[in-house]
Parts: sequence; structure tokens; C-alpha cells
Amino acid sequence: MAVLDINQIRACFPSLKSGHIYADNAGGSRTAQAVIDRIVDYLTNTNAQLEAGYSAVNSQLVVEGTKVAAELFNAVSLDEVGFGSSSTMLFENLSRALENDIQPGDEFIITYEHEANNGPWKRLAARRNAVVKYWQPQPVSAENPYSVVYRIEELLPLVSSRTRLAAINACSNILGSVIPVEETVKALRQRAKEQGAAKFEVALDCVAYASHKRMDVQKWDVDYCVFSVYKVFGAHNAAAYVRSAALRTSFTSIVHDFLKVDDKPYKFQPGGPGNELVYGASAIVPYLKSLTPEDDLAASFDAIAEHEQEILTPLLRFLTDAKQFDRGVRILGTGEIDFSRIPTVCFVVVGQNAIKSKDIVGAFSKKGGISIQCGYFCAYYLIDNLRPKLDMNDGVVRISLVHYNTVEEVEKIVDVLREVLA
Ligand SMILES: Cc1ncc(COP(=O)(O)O)c(C=O)c1O
Repeated sequence: MAVLDINQIRACFPSLKSGHIYADNAGGSRTAQAVIDRIVDYLTNTNAQLEAGYSAVNSQLVVEGTKVAAELFNAVSLDEVGFGSSSTMLFENLSRALENDIQPGDEFIITYEHEANNGPWKRLAARRNAVVKYWQPQPVSAENPYSVVYRIEELLPLVSSRTRLAAINACSNILGSVIPVEETVKALRQRAKEQGAAKFEVALDCVAYASHKRMDVQKWDVDYCVFSVYKVFGAHNAAAYVRSAALRTSFTSIVHDFLKVDDKPYKFQPGGPGNELVYGASAIVPYLKSLTPEDDLAASFDAIAEHEQEILTPLLRFLTDAKQFDRGVRILGTGEIDFSRIPTVCFVVVGQNAIKSKDIVGAFSKKGGISIQCGYFCAYYLIDNLRPKLDMNDGVVRISLVHYNTVEEVEKIVDVLREVLA
């Protein structure tokens, strides 16, 4: 397997030149120069109304962005991909487009993950008298109550003959854990069939997943899938996949009623897609493919995963060693280092010598040169439901890395943590 050339990679990101250590990548990644170049090029040279007779070039450029998002999703067709300003907004649009296909008594299964793929279904349930059920993560460690995981055995009993939709996350932006999507969706569909569910769909949040691993909506057999481009080295927008059958049979258009939408993604995309940002996104796949000689997304993501294990290891080892455990450090999620964990690590410091998460982040800010964050990161209910209860005003500390972070950077982060926890 190819090994990433980190120097070459870092040279693709202008903001990394300062040497500042960006360790809040789950909040937003750096933007690749190639993305910036395309946005500037679009605005400088081709900015005009899409579909205007005089704008054939810019319409074509926007299609380039759609092609790249389709490739990232592994969608069957470009007609299954739309854009919006954020994943939160796209999930809201999807739920509104689905509204007429929801009957009173239908059931939605949601999680305690980021509210983007929960709130829209809760609001839709309230509007349509549907029922919401929760797939809750469970503690898996006798020593650490915050070490929780989502397990299929708690998910499947939630499925009934009325289950209409499961809204799940490929990866947690807090726990750092990846669920086996293919296996989970297969088991869900099987159970829904056994229960006699008339129509069952899956909405997948890939926001915390997409910069780390290859998405594959076909293999996963999901109906809806969303990721934020600004967390995958692009600018601030998001992309949604909607299976063409769902576009045809589940969705009612939410755009101006006089527009002919023809079961195209425009059906759930009121307003334009954010043209220059969509064109900017078209640089992401070429960037990712350039990481390995194979010129292939799967190979690049394999190499990314290898490197990310390498940078995760010193951080997770430090935070989970016996000394830190005795000190009161408790990570969220599991301490195992394997490919089902991305390098996003959250922790709290509890006990007699507890330290507030804000004070830990404050110590990093005071020192300067490294950005980390604390809070609940919109996974409010995940953190609020942990026991013993955590202070929601303080939240958890999150350190989140991606493939452009280096082992040396992680060593510097660990050095600061060592000082703060001394
Ligand atoms: C897992 C997850 N889902 C959804 C979102 C929302 O994404 P956006 O900011 O594009 O609305 C985030 C943002 O942090 C996230 O981490």
C-alpha cells in the first residue's frame, strides 16, 4: 500500500504553511488550494446565472462539482446529487420533501448523534403525528461509563411494521466510532421486511465520515446520504445523495410550484446550489486521487486510514494510559485503535482533581499555536444522556485530526496535554 507523502499533502493547503496545528478538523477542515483556485476562477471568469442562454460554460463547471460529489458518494447517476449550504439544511430539506409520504403512526428511528439528522425527523414526526424511537449507545466498559458504543442488538428491536425511516450516522463526531453501515442497513432492511413494514428508508449522515473513509451508497443500500464539503477540504457547502427511486416515489417538490422538476435533485433544492462552491468542490476528488500513485479513491482512502491510525495512536495511548485514567481522564467512545475509529477523540477530566473542559482548551489557547475545541458539538443528547452527568455548559474536549496532521504535531499536542494534566 502507498504511504502518504505528508509534505506534498501539506503543500496543497495554504493555511498549513503558518505551522499552526489545526486539531479541530471535525469542526471544519482546511481548504485545499485547488478548491480556492476554482472558486476564484469561477467568480472571476464565468459567474453568471445558471441555465441562462449565455452561460453554457458555467453550467458545465457546476456539473463538474456534481460529478465529483456523485463519485464521492458512489451514486449511480448525477441526477441523484444535490447541494445546499450545510448538511443541517439539506437534512431539513429532505424531511420536508418527504412530508407528504409520511402517515400518522409511521415510526422514525433516530440516534443521539449530531442533531442535523435528528431534529428534522423529530419536527416532521410532530407535524405528521409520527412516532420517534431512539437508538441509544450503550456503555461497554466497567471502568469508564463514558465509553459508549452503538450496537445493532439495540437497534433491531426498535423496528416494527410501522417503521418508515432509520436516520443513522456512519461515524460519530464525538465517539469517533464508525458503524458497519452495510451490515447495519442489511440487518435493518431484513427486520423491516420480517415485520411487514410497507416502506422503509435509510437516511445516513456521513459528515464525520467522509474525510476519513470512502462512501458507497450503492454497497450500503441507503436512500439518503449527506456530507459537508467544508469538512472534506472544500468550501462551506454540503452535498446530498437521494436514490432516484426515493426522488420519484417518496418526495414531493419543495421548490416554486411552477418549476418543472422532473424528479431531479432540484426537487429538494430550493434556490441555486451555490454555483462557485459547487465548482470548487470539483477539485476534491482530483486532490484525493493525487495522494497515491494508483489515482484511485479507494487506494487513497486506504492510505489515509493507515496514516490516521498512526497519528491516532500516540494521542489515544496517552489519554487512556493508567496514569491518565487515575488522574481522572475519561475518553468518550472506545480506547481501541483500529480501523473502526477515526482520529477524533473526546474526553473529560473528572474526579477529585477534575479540570473543566474550557480550562483545558483555555490552556491550549494561552500557549498558542494549536487549535482544539470543547463543547457538545451539536450532539447535545448524546452528551446530556451520559451518566454520571456532565456539565452541558462545559461539555467535552475534542481533538480531531485528519490526514494532513503529522505525528510531530500530535506529539506537540500530547506535550501540552501532559502539562495541563500534571
Ligand atoms: C456528524 C455531523 N453531522 C452533521 C453536521 C452538520 O453539518 P453542517 O455544519 O454542514 O450543517 C456536523 C457538523 O459538525 C457533524 O459533525
